[in-house]
Order: sequence, then C-alpha cells, then structure tokens
Amino acid sequence: MKLKFDYNNMMESSIGTHGIKQSAIDKAAKAHEAAYKEVVDNSGKGWQGWTETPMIDKATVDELNAFGKSIREKASSFVVLGIGGSALGPICVFNALLHLHHNELNEKMRKAPKIYVEDNVDPERMAALFDVIDIKTTYFNVITKSGETSETLSQFLILYNALKKAVGEKAAKEHIFVTTTIGKGALYAAAEKEGFKIFGVPAGVGGRFSVLSNVGLVPFAVMGIDIESMLYGARAMRTACERKDIYSNPALMTAYLQVLSMKDGKNISVMMPYADGLKTMADFYCQIWAESLGKAVDKAGKTVNCGQTPAKSLGVTDQHSQVQLYTEGPYDKVVTIIGVDTFGDSVTIPADETADIGDFLKGHTMNELITAERKSTEFALTKAGRSNFTITMPTVDAETVGELLMYFMYQTAFAGAYLNIDTFNQPGVEEGKKATFAMIGRAGYEQKLKELESAVKDEKYIIS
Ligand code: PA5
Repeated sequence: MKLKFDYNNMMESSIGTHGIKQSAIDKAAKAHEAAYKEVVDNSGKGWQGWTETPMIDKATVDELNAFGKSIREKASSFVVLGIGGSALGPICVFNALLHLHHNELNEKMRKAPKIYVEDNVDPERMAALFDVIDIKTTYFNVITKSGETSETLSQFLILYNALKKAVGEKAAKEHIFVTTTIGKGALYAAAEKEGFKIFGVPAGVGGRFSVLSNVGLVPFAVMGIDIESMLYGARAMRTACERKDIYSNPALMTAYLQVLSMKDGKNISVMMPYADGLKTMADFYCQIWAESLGKAVDKAGKTVNCGQTPAKSLGVTDQHSQVQLYTEGPYDKVVTIIGVDTFGDSVTIPADETADIGDFLKGHTMNELITAERKSTEFALTKAGRSNFTITMPTVDAETVGELLMYFMYQTAFAGAYLNIDTFNQPGVEEGKKATFAMIGRAGYEQKLKELESAVKDEKYIIS
C-alpha cells in the first residue's frame, strides 16, 4: 500500500478532551472483530460483490483496453450518461487522472476525446451539451445498474433520437454502448432490441460501490486511463483492509474512529483534499458515506436514524471560506485531509527583484506553498482541539487512485458493520425514484400519485 494514514489528531493525546482515548479502541476488541468478520468473511457474498471487482483477469483488462482504444481513435467527444453511483466514480477518476483542462487542450495534446459526464436532467445543461459536441463523432456510454432510472433513460432517449437524425438509424447504434445489469431492466431490453454493445454490472455490486466494475472501467479504458495499475492499487488496498489487527488496518481503524466520533456528536464528516485533481473525490466520498450510513433502522429493526453528514471542502481554496467554522464553531466535525507528497508538476514563484512585493514567497514553489498550507490547517485544527486525520498520497496516479477508492469502500463497509445497519440499501433514494415515476405518469404508480396528491400545503406558510 502506498497511501499513509495518520490519525494522531483524532486522539486525546493530540487534541485533548475532544479526542479519543486509546483505551476506547482497545476495550472494543469484540466490536472490531465483529465488524471485521461481517465485511471480510463475507467478501464477495451478497452485496459485497464489490470486493471482487479488482480481481478481474488480464484477458478481460486487455479486452476492455482494446474496446476503449477503438472508441478513443474515432471519437471527438465521449459522453457518459448516468447518475449517482453510475457517474461519480467516472467523474472523480477523470478529475484525478486527466489533465485539469482536458477538454480545452488542443487535439494533439489531448490524446483522447473530450469528456462529458452528464449526471443531471437540467434542460439548460442538456441543450448546452449539443452546443459543444459534434454528435456525428461523439460516442455515448449509458450507465445504469437498474436500467430504470428516469434521469438516465431520459438522457438516452434525447441523445439516441438526435443521433439517429444526425447519422441515420444504423450508424446511431454504433455510437452507443451500455453498462447495465444483464437480463434486467428497461435499458437492457432496449439494448438487446437495438443491438447496442452491452457491458454487465456484476451481481452484488451496488451503484456507489461499482467504480472498479465495468461502470468505471469501460469509460476509463475509452479515455486511455491505466486500468491495470488502478486495479493493482485497489488489490493492494484490499490486502491492507483485510489485516486483522485494527492498528494496521486503515479502513477498520478510521471507520471505528468515525463511528466513535458520531456517537460523541460529531455528526459532520468533512472531506478536504489538497489538490484540484482530487476535488471530486470528495463528491465520491460524500455519496458513499451518506447513502450507505444514513439509515433509519439497524439490522434488528431498531430505529437508529444514524449517519454522519458529509461535507466537501477543497484545500487551500476553502481555507478562506470554511476553516474559520471548523476551528471555532461547534465540536461537531471530523475533518479528513488528503495530502499529496509529489505533484505532477512543479511551479516556481519567480525571484523577480523588479517586483517589489511578496519577497517571502519569491523562489519558493507552489508545491511548497500548498504543502505548508495543508500542514497549517492541520496545525490550526489540532491546536483548536478539532478531530482530524490525514491521508497522504505519494503521487496522484492510477495506482494510488485505485487504492484510495478501495479504501473508501472498505471504510464505509466497516463503519456500517460497526453501526449494525444495512450499508448497501438505499430505501430513501428508491422512495424518491418511485415518486418521480408517479408524478411523470408512469403506469403502475397510480397509488403513489394519490399519496403525493394527498399532501396539502397551507398557503399561510408560503411567502411570495
Ligand atoms: O448507489 C446507488 O445505488 C445509487 O446512487 C445509484 O447509483 C443511482 O441511484 C443510479 O442508479 P442506476 O445505476 O440504477 O441508474
């Protein structure tokens, strides 16, 4: 494992009374064992199919790469259609591993098509997409595990229709490939009928745990991302997260520290990467942490209403908007800082003697500055007695990104096991999906529509 996890500043020895005593970790040996068994002994079983996603063989990786190359070579733009777990994995990996201004690069420098991940049904955004792509040379990966999600199906219908008009029925089919559950759902049926290429989402892999399955691997292959190294990193992290001793298992330890913090009223989990390329890693984390741990009941059916609200913050940008609250506001947060040792580029602040300003900065690099600022935030939080821990990545590359993603999945699964909840369901999301079907008039949802219409609003509480 290349990532390093420093949780000193979660501990009483570092931050004082708001920290965790080592005895609180040591006396919970039974809880650690139960959480460990729940996740590791059930690896690959039930909804834990995600633990197996990095284990695919070389031949499958080669096939994905060959397919990816064939699209990459002919596409001017590549569009991913999906939402939630079917979009956030691709978004955060593209952000981390492609050039930060990928789409603005000239064709020669870009080496891959322009990339767009459409994860909303905002009509202005959909219309805007048509303004920037040449549909005749654009390829689309429609990703939906259920094959039923309104947002993704509506995008598909709009774009397939536009494609047919632009390139004709036959050619349009070549521009679309789908990732969905084989044999299930409306998208699978449509794909079979239309003859689109289909990639399967393996059984037991929920949306937010699917980034290392075809949900992520297909788009990564199209963009020329080194999926072999990413899977290698994920396997290394899997090995680390299967260590039995909590003191050497980063996911088990940090899951437990978060759960103890939640029980102590620290109900907000801030994810604060110090690298623009990791900005949307915080979105990935927010989804997996919120949707997995925000649950009404535990496995025994007892009402628990548990969870920790995730918040995203970007270092250093949000030092100037949020850190004031983190250091002096309520003691209700745990801040996870992600640092990078060596950035992909180095930029020196010129020692320009003619510029009579900022002498203290001259000759230093921005790399030094961002690292100093990260350490300063850690210092300020710690001095103020605020719980924080730091994950350090030696560099941001396919291998370390694979490690980080796998760590998030294990950390979430262990946290859910400590809380004794069903980490892998999402009844709250399903309820919203059904209500949308009802409001939009889908057959079979008439009762739900009645329920929705029975909710009356009192005019006296509306200001206009
Ligand atoms: O994590 C989840 O299960 C959800 O966020 C889903 O990924 C999201 O609702 C999209 O579902 P689907 O992939 O079925 O379109």
